[in-house]
Amino acid sequence: MTQPRHKIAILVGSLREGSINRKIARSICAIRNDGLECEMVGIGDLPLYNQDYDNSPDEPESYARFRERIRAADGILFCTPEYNRSVPGALKNAVDVGSRPYGSSVWNGKPAAIVSASPGSIGGFGANHQLRQACVFLNMPVMQQPEAYLGHVNDDSFGENGLLKDGPLKQLVEKLAHAFHDWVDTIVEARAHLAARRG
Ligand code: FNR
Repeated sequence: MTQPRHKIAILVGSLREGSINRKIARSICAIRNDGLECEMVGIGDLPLYNQDYDNSPDEPESYARFRERIRAADGILFCTPEYNRSVPGALKNAVDVGSRPYGSSVWNGKPAAIVSASPGSIGGFGANHQLRQACVFLNMPVMQQPEAYLGHVNDDSFGENGLLKDGPLKQLVEKLAHAFHDWVDTIVEARAHLAARRG
């Protein structure tokens, strides 16, 4: 039986081109037959969120484009570094932009997974869990296992094609991608079931 495909929006918390987190995200996109239809959604063109923009003609155009891409996704995958034991500002800004205007959050109910990667040994644990905290408030069911605090990741972790080299890290990331597919599938199916039952 062919497995259902789900559209996944990937947000990378680092803006730099050579980002190890971007390379992890690309490696996940490159996994074949995993049922994930990945799209990287840029966050670098989102001006700093200002509540005065809500329902205002002054709202940056990039906000609407960003929100539409998130709305169209079945699930959200965050791949983020940790900055000063916390979520990088650019990613937090994107989370805030998507959460407003009040009552119109595009995150509501979207299944999510969080990957954090760092050359350090803690693997971005702090950023990962801070982001989880925001997801709780945003009503996003976040996959519990496998957790992905990827430590000791650096440029040597990737081949010339920019993707993860074969080895335990790649195996963990592949396991995570398959688990995430099942997680999104579970949430999407459960919602469809509930909707059908309620007519
Ligand atoms: C870092 N870095 C870092 N690493 C970490 O494990 N914990 C931390 O708190 C921080 N803090 C931090 C702050 C700032 C401003 C920078 C620029 C960097 C190091 C960081 O993990 C490393 O630069 C990664 O390579 C950044 O991720 P990308 O850009 O490669 O995805």
